[in-house]
Amino acid sequence: MCGIVGAVGATECTPFLLSGLRTLEYRGYDSAGLALLDASGALVRARAKGRVSELERRVAEQGVAGRVGIAHTRWATHGVPAERNAHPHVSRGLAVVHNGIIENYAELKQQLQALGYAFTSDTDTETIAHLVQACLAGGNAFADAPAADLFAAVRCAVAHLEGAYALAVVREEEPGCSEEPCLIVAREGSPLMLGVGEQGHYAASDASALLSVTRRMIYLENGDVGRLTREAIELIDGQGQPVAREVVTSSLSADAVELGDYRHYMQKEIFEQPQALGNTLEMLGGAGRLQPGIFGADAEAIFAEVDAVLILACGTSSYAGMTARYWIEQLANLPCSVEIASEYRYRHSVANPRQLVVVISQSGETADTLAALHHAKAMGHTRTLAICNVPESAIVRETALRFITRAGPEIGVASTKAFTTQLAALFLLTLLLAKANGRLSNESANDGVDDSPEQAFLTELRHLPVAVEKLLALEPEIEAWAQRFAHKQHALFLGRGHHYPIALEGTLKLKEISYIHAEAYPAGELKHGPLALVDAEMPVVVIAPNDELLEKLKANMQEVSARGGQLYVFADGCCGFEQGEGVNLIRLPEHYGLLSPVLHVVALQLLAYHVALVKGTDVDKPRNLAKSVTVE
Ligand code: G6P
Repeated sequence: MCGIVGAVGATECTPFLLSGLRTLEYRGYDSAGLALLDASGALVRARAKGRVSELERRVAEQGVAGRVGIAHTRWATHGVPAERNAHPHVSRGLAVVHNGIIENYAELKQQLQALGYAFTSDTDTETIAHLVQACLAGGNAFADAPAADLFAAVRCAVAHLEGAYALAVVREEEPGCSEEPCLIVAREGSPLMLGVGEQGHYAASDASALLSVTRRMIYLENGDVGRLTREAIELIDGQGQPVAREVVTSSLSADAVELGDYRHYMQKEIFEQPQALGNTLEMLGGAGRLQPGIFGADAEAIFAEVDAVLILACGTSSYAGMTARYWIEQLANLPCSVEIASEYRYRHSVANPRQLVVVISQSGETADTLAALHHAKAMGHTRTLAICNVPESAIVRETALRFITRAGPEIGVASTKAFTTQLAALFLLTLLLAKANGRLSNESANDGVDDSPEQAFLTELRHLPVAVEKLLALEPEIEAWAQRFAHKQHALFLGRGHHYPIALEGTLKLKEISYIHAEAYPAGELKHGPLALVDAEMPVVVIAPNDELLEKLKANMQEVSARGGQLYVFADGCCGFEQGEGVNLIRLPEHYGLLSPVLHVVALQLLAYHVALVKGTDVDKPRNLAKSVTVE
């Protein structure tokens, strides 16, 4: 979603601002813009609908340059994607970029219009620009007296805002910064971090945008407002008190966000899964026993108390949760429910304080997941756990326990390696809950060979990266199927048991990047409706692992064949399937028991990727979608 980059330094900052925006492109956006103070201290602005490359062209044409500036990629919320709605928004010599949503903007806009401020966009952000200006002017409902400088004006303005924001503001000839130009930042709800560099100071909504200049970062807390000059950073917290925030060194490497030899980030991330799983499972080492401490210092005590699990998430992360539900109920014998975060946050549910509330999020920024966590806490839940890929994210900072997946930065909008590492984390959680619930024997055999279920599951987990590597070798076979899907309008995906959520995830991948309408069904439901859709034009993808539901699944497949449907079957070895008329078959190398979903989903990721390639869609930045949905 929207992205912010800002800089104040000794050198011309336009190249940094533009490269920062390019780094943030993956988050999804529809327009881009920047504003700088030029050599004479005047505000100059360039904006463009469409890609950052279009903005770059305009910047070159207009010759925009300066040592202090702000830049933005916009994902439309208020007002259509258009140049007039692109950020920065200006008000008499000051410019603002904003991520988030101002909930009381309509009311503020009316008040500001009554004061004579003219609006040129449909955005909530323009309200902030005029509001800061009104605080500088004083003598109105927002400020009795004129604010001393831009820093004071922004502090005055944010006191009137309701909603979520990350802001960066610059102003020409700023009185408080007569010696040195400055950049003002503020944060509430939406992420914003500062970069401490050799040549100056920087701001961004995502750490990856800062890596080209520095790894030393300050993560702003909610309520913080800051003034950045080339030499110094001054911060005021939500209570109006000066505050110092820790400077942390980011462990992200700039290479981690490079495409390398791959054609797309999604392809790179699919192929990084063995490594991502290996990194995520690294903390197991060679230990024969799982330690609850991997989920946090209090995990052992909390796991011992819980009598149920509630999982909250959105999108792909919710399908990881749905898969885990099968594991948790089967192995840990704990009731487990999974809710879409955007529903849970507004539903009148009945809280069970002994439930473990698990929030799953790749980004740790998803507005609905964060709000669902707040809702759960407000309802009295204290046993909370985050499974997240971004250690510094908001969600991670707000739970009692946490597990950080080590997938590395995920750039493709369609989630792949984040999902499989979430599954690995959730399987570890399942084993620990099972142990705490007395469901996994800890007895070692007398002969000294440890063959306890715990040991056996750990061995399977450790082997997972190798198993995924073998699966990736199926790519040419899967690619051959893609041609046949690319011209279809619809597809059905069938799975049973813990592969049903994998069927859902497979359809989500196909929808997201190839724009083919796909629906997933638990195969037993076929005859309760979707069978009516089946004809020779309907490809039916079947996830057919060699498990106890296989014979039932084969019967469901017969129902499809009998209606002329085309079956595309991902089967494990030795399943007794034959390729034939109407039955296309790809055999996975091995059956992987309870962890089989981790393998089958990789096959479906590859299928979606290759269908999208044939269709020629924008794989990494599918239309209308954003990587991190930081607004409701
Ligand atoms: C967006 C992304 C999805 C992701 C979902 C939840 O819709 O495009 O790939 O699954 O958000 O994101 P999260 O970061 O909370 O896992």
